[in-house]
Amino acid sequence: MNKTLPEKDFTFKRTNIVIPEKGSFTWKAPSNIALVKYWGKYDVQLPKNASISFTLDACYTLTTLEFRKRQIPTEALISSKGFIATKRESTFEIFLDGERKPEFSEKIATFITRISNLVSFISDYDLIIKTRNSFPHSSGIASSASGMAALALCIMSIEKKLNPEITDEYFYEKASFLARLGSGSASRSIKGPLVVWGQHKEIEGSSDLFGIEFSSTIHENFKNYHDTILLVDKGEKQISSTIGHDLMHNHPFAQKRFEQAYQNLSKLVTVLQNGDIKEFITIVESEALTLHAMMLTSNPYFILMKPNTLSIINRIWEFRTRTNANLCFTLDAGANVHILYPEKEKEIVNQFIVNELLEFCQNNHYICDRVGLGAKQTH
Ligand code: DP6
Repeated sequence: MNKTLPEKDFTFKRTNIVIPEKGSFTWKAPSNIALVKYWGKYDVQLPKNASISFTLDACYTLTTLEFRKRQIPTEALISSKGFIATKRESTFEIFLDGERKPEFSEKIATFITRISNLVSFISDYDLIIKTRNSFPHSSGIASSASGMAALALCIMSIEKKLNPEITDEYFYEKASFLARLGSGSASRSIKGPLVVWGQHKEIEGSSDLFGIEFSSTIHENFKNYHDTILLVDKGEKQISSTIGHDLMHNHPFAQKRFEQAYQNLSKLVTVLQNGDIKEFITIVESEALTLHAMMLTSNPYFILMKPNTLSIINRIWEFRTRTNANLCFTLDAGANVHILYPEKEKEIVNQFIVNELLEFCQNNHYICDRVGLGAKQTH
């Protein structure tokens, strides 16, 4: 696919505002669940196909970013021998649930390096990142989308303080742009209830660079949609998403897959407006299975589903045939199953989940979530 990227200049323009000595901002950013999946990227975190997701509500990351002006000004880095030291990289410390987490440093360092030319003020500060997730770290739910989105929003709050002129539109687009550079799906964790990331002819304003809110009128059937997440396997994934994306290079079915995703998004755009739940179910389940089919057919191949993932899928299909209820499943890059269903069927579906599906969850664990409206600043 030949794509032309829209011109967007997200570089921070220095104003003559004096840099504040210190401060802190806190943002709560939600997780999201893709209906049409992003799997395959090029250049720096650009998607091979457009994707769309429901923004979630109960699953989120809360991040406080504390920033303190560097004690040693850049000029003082000129050593006694007259060497000019290169401007130092930002220093940061990261805490999860109050505990220092050096194992996250590499990912955050890569992120900060990628965004440093767009938010040049960042290198004037030492940063302390204090973060916590509403879902257990060991749940197998990826925190990179909500985590990177929350951090990107905190950084944008610093930019807004330095340049109060920036518009809300610029603020959120750039937040999504920065979040994307941390993790692709994070670009969809800023707004809600539905976010599109990736250029698509039928979706005005859509871009590979950042996620946008899906702005067409959404049918009543898809409002307050529920997502119950069945925690099938809480272990570390054997293959990271990043490796999985990479395996889409030279994948024998890649090109067809990207075209299919594009067409599925076209179909979903119609469905979200006309309320055709049966068609919604077909598209969403096919997307989930195709994502995993790409993994099964990668070189090297791998399987992230577990036997219980398949048991749950089969039970859902049986239940649907028996009751005609409108629940469906989707999967992320892991074994957990997301069960999506409309608000007005929540009683019957919840009963089914409790009676028939919890036995397939690790320690009977599951999370009840629903569609949410996007990130919020709390401080
Ligand atoms: C299967 O956003 O986690 O959840 O850009 O390498 O951080 P990176 O990948 P990531 O990939 C998510 C893939 C997915 C599908 C989706 O959310 O669209």
